Amino acid sequence: MLDLESLNPEQREAVECTEGPLLVLAGAGSGKTRVLTYRIAHIIESGAAYPWEVMAITFTNKAAAEMRERLSGLIGGSSRGMWVSTFHSACVRILRADAERLGFTKNFTIYDDSDSKSLVKSIMYDLGIDPKRIPLNAVRSRISAAKNELVMPGQFAAEARDPIAKQAARVYEMLQERLRAANAFDFDDLLVYAWLLLKDHPDVLAAYQDRFRYILVDEYQDTNRAQYAITQLLAGQRKNIMVVWRRRPVHLQLARRRHPQHTGVRAGLPQLSHREVGTQLPLHFHNTGRCQRGHCQQRQAQSEAPCFDRRRRCEDPSLHGFRRAR
Ligand SMILES: Nc1ncnc2c1ncn2[C@@H]1O[C@H](COP(=O)(O)OP(=O)(O)O)[C@@H](O)[C@H]1O
Ligand SMILES: [Mg+2]
Repeated sequence: MLDLESLNPEQREAVECTEGPLLVLAGAGSGKTRVLTYRIAHIIESGAAYPWEVMAITFTNKAAAEMRERLSGLIGGSSRGMWVSTFHSACVRILRADAERLGFTKNFTIYDDSDSKSLVKSIMYDLGIDPKRIPLNAVRSRISAAKNELVMPGQFAAEARDPIAKQAARVYEMLQERLRAANAFDFDDLLVYAWLLLKDHPDVLAAYQDRFRYILVDEYQDTNRAQYAITQLLAGQRKNIMVVWRRRPVHLQLARRRHPQHTGVRAGLPQLSHREVGTQLPLHFHNTGRCQRGHCQQRQAQSEAPCFDRRRRCEDPSLHGFRRAR
């Protein structure tokens, strides 16, 4: 039996708020991952979902292994069959199942960093690009950044202004051709192609949306645009998604500067501050409106947050979503 008594009141409230989008916002070491793990255990134990209907995403393989361990400590063998992985591993699974839909075969190869470096190097050689003038690493990092932003070769070429970008555009186009010819994905491609698969094949997307009743993402502040887009697709209309955001004001400002487009995409809503629950304690959470538990609603009614319209938030499902904390 899961011991919810071992959580502090804010953690417990976040764990028990299982329906609708939920943002958990707190500093490092405040127990965010603990909330995420207990929330999964609570979802399974309460019968809200089967283990295979839950997808938990973490940022490193080590963190995924730790989470699996924590989960098996809480619910034992019930955690088997659950997707607890990094974005990249989840994308590999998604691609292994349906790579044919994208013109690849299921036994595609994944190029590691050194494979991909050699490939880019040979493409630059073939295109006659002088690595003394246009450094290999600069080209690679431009292409990688583009992939993480879901910028395809055509758009990248159209937007290339400086000499490095112009040469990188030529390399990017040929790189994608060669990878495809080799039936291979590089690390960044795993995200890009998983996103393309889900975006362009509604039946594939619907099967995942139907399957994953609950999606939980740890360290969400580190997601890039591709990861964000995949998460949004998978969460679908149900939006039963919890994200954990490590709060570091400086980091947030930096992230906003680096990914200004996220603010718009993520919000699509008036910007608003999170509603802090329990000012004395380090953990805060924000449920964006669909939690029907009495005390949550009461709290919403009492909330003095001035900047958004609570009535619209409750009635209009299109307004349910995540917002960045200020
Ligand atoms: N309510 C709690 N009671 C006891 N230990 C806790 C509690 N909340 C968190 N911890 C412990 O504090 C440490 C940090 O928690 P963790 O969930 O990893 O934090 P975060 O993900 O916010 O960095 C872990 O060892 C965790 O078990
Ligand atoms: Mg953590």
